Amino acid sequence: MKTIIEPFRIKAVEPIFFTTEDQRAQKLKEVGYNLFGLKAEDVIIDLLTDSGTSAMSAMQWAGIMNGDESYAGSRSFYRFEETIKKITGLTHIIPTHQGRAAEKILFSIVGGEGQIIPNNTHFDTTRANIEFSGAEAIDFLNENGKKPDFIADFKGNMDVEKLRSFLAENAEKVPLVMLTITNNSGGGQPVSMENIRQVSEVCREFQKPFFLDACRFAENAYFIKIREHGYDKKSILEICQEMFSYADGMTMSAKKDALVNIGGFLALNDEDLAQKCRNVLVVTEGFPTYGGLAGRDLEAIAQGLEEILDESYLHYRIRTIAYLGEKLVEAGVPLILPTGGHAVYLDAGKFCEHIPNYEFPGQAIACALYLKGGIRACEIGSVMFGKYNENGKTVSPDLELVRLAIPRRVYTQSHIDYVVEVIIEVFQEREKLKGYKIVKEPPMLRHFTAEFAEL
Ligand code: F0G
Repeated sequence: MKTIIEPFRIKAVEPIFFTTEDQRAQKLKEVGYNLFGLKAEDVIIDLLTDSGTSAMSAMQWAGIMNGDESYAGSRSFYRFEETIKKITGLTHIIPTHQGRAAEKILFSIVGGEGQIIPNNTHFDTTRANIEFSGAEAIDFLNENGKKPDFIADFKGNMDVEKLRSFLAENAEKVPLVMLTITNNSGGGQPVSMENIRQVSEVCREFQKPFFLDACRFAENAYFIKIREHGYDKKSILEICQEMFSYADGMTMSAKKDALVNIGGFLALNDEDLAQKCRNVLVVTEGFPTYGGLAGRDLEAIAQGLEEILDESYLHYRIRTIAYLGEKLVEAGVPLILPTGGHAVYLDAGKFCEHIPNYEFPGQAIACALYLKGGIRACEIGSVMFGKYNENGKTVSPDLELVRLAIPRRVYTQSHIDYVVEVIIEVFQEREKLKGYKIVKEPPMLRHFTAEFAEL
C-alpha cells in the first residue's frame, strides 16, 4: 500500500475552537503581535513546539493510574530505571522534571568560569545553563549543516577535525563534549552513527567524557536505519543501544521522544560524578528515586520509551514531516532541506526577500500564518537571537527561520493538509506582508514577551 496511515486509533479527543480572520486580527493586536501571548484556545493548529505536547497512549494513561507514589524506592522508579538502562546501557539514572533541569545539574558541577563545552549546536537551554555557570558554549557544526537547502543525509554531524584541533589546543578547559541528536537548532537534522563513533573516539583520545543531548534519540535512530549503510536490518532498539554505547552520559528531555507532557533525566556511567549530581538533585529537584517527578510520570515515561522504539510509529512520524515539506517545496516555498525529524523550518529570509532582517521577516510570516489560518508557529531568527550593536543596530543570526514543530500523535493528515494550504496561500501573497518593529522588550529572552507593531 502507498498510503502511510497513522499507526493508532483515537480514543479520546479534544475540541479545536474555530475563530474567524477578524477575530484573529483582534487577538493579534491584543497580544502585541507576539504569538506566545495568545491563549492556546485561540489557536487552531498549534505548532509552537513538539515539546510536552504529545498525545499519550492508553497504556501510558493506564501507567498513570498504576504509578507508585512512594517517596523512596517507588516501583515506578525501578521500571523507569530499567527501561532507560535497557535502551542506553548507562549505569546511573537520575530523574529530573525536564531536560533543562538535567542540564542545570550537570553544568553546575562540570561548568564554571574558564570552562568550554563543545557541541554540534547547543540548544538554547543548554547554552543558557552553560553560560549561567560561567562557562562558554561553542558549536562545531559541519559546514553542510549551515547551508539551508544543501541536500545531505546527516546535516547534524559535528565537524570532527575542528573538535580535534580545538581539543589539541584547549583540552584542559573542556570538562566534556556534547552532541545533540537530532540537532534541533540546526533544523532537526540527524547525526550519523559514524559521526557519533568518531566524536567518541576523539573524546577518548583526549580523555574527555562524551555526553549526548538525546531528546530526539529515536528519531535520530530511525534516520540512521533508513540512511546509513549497514543499519537497514537492525531494530531501532539495537541502533539506539549502539548510539548510546559510544557515550559516557546523556541529558534527556522526556517531553520529546518519551512521549510525555513533562519529565527528563540525566544518565551517566561515572560513579563519582553521579554522586555529585544526586547531591545537587536532592537540593533542587527531589529524592533520587523521583527527582522532581511523580511516580505516575516515571511510569508514563517508561511506557513512552518502549513505544517510541516502534518502527511503524517512527516511519509515520518522519513521513509526516517529509510530506509537509514536499507539498511546500512543490509550491516553491523555501525551506531547510532535507526536512528533519520533528519540524519543518521555513527560510523566512528567502520567503520574504522584501523584508530586511531588522524588520523581522520570520515574525511577519508567523503572524500571517496565524491571521490566515489560526496556525501558531515559532520565529527563530532576529527576534529570538538578534542582538544590538553599540550603535543600536540589530545584529542578526545566520538564518531567519520559522519553525513548524509537529506534536507527536496529535494531528492527522487532514490537519497537515490544512497547514499546507494556509502556508501556500500566505506564500502566494507574500509581497503584501509588512515588517514589524519592537515596541517593548525585556532584557533577556525577548521572544517570549516582546511586543511589536506593524510597519
Ligand atoms: N535539548 C534540546 C535539543 C531541546 O530541543 C530542548 C527543548 C531541551 C534540550 C530542553 O528540554 O524543554 O525539557 O527543558 N526544546 C523545546 C523546543 C523547548 O521547543 O525545541 P526541556
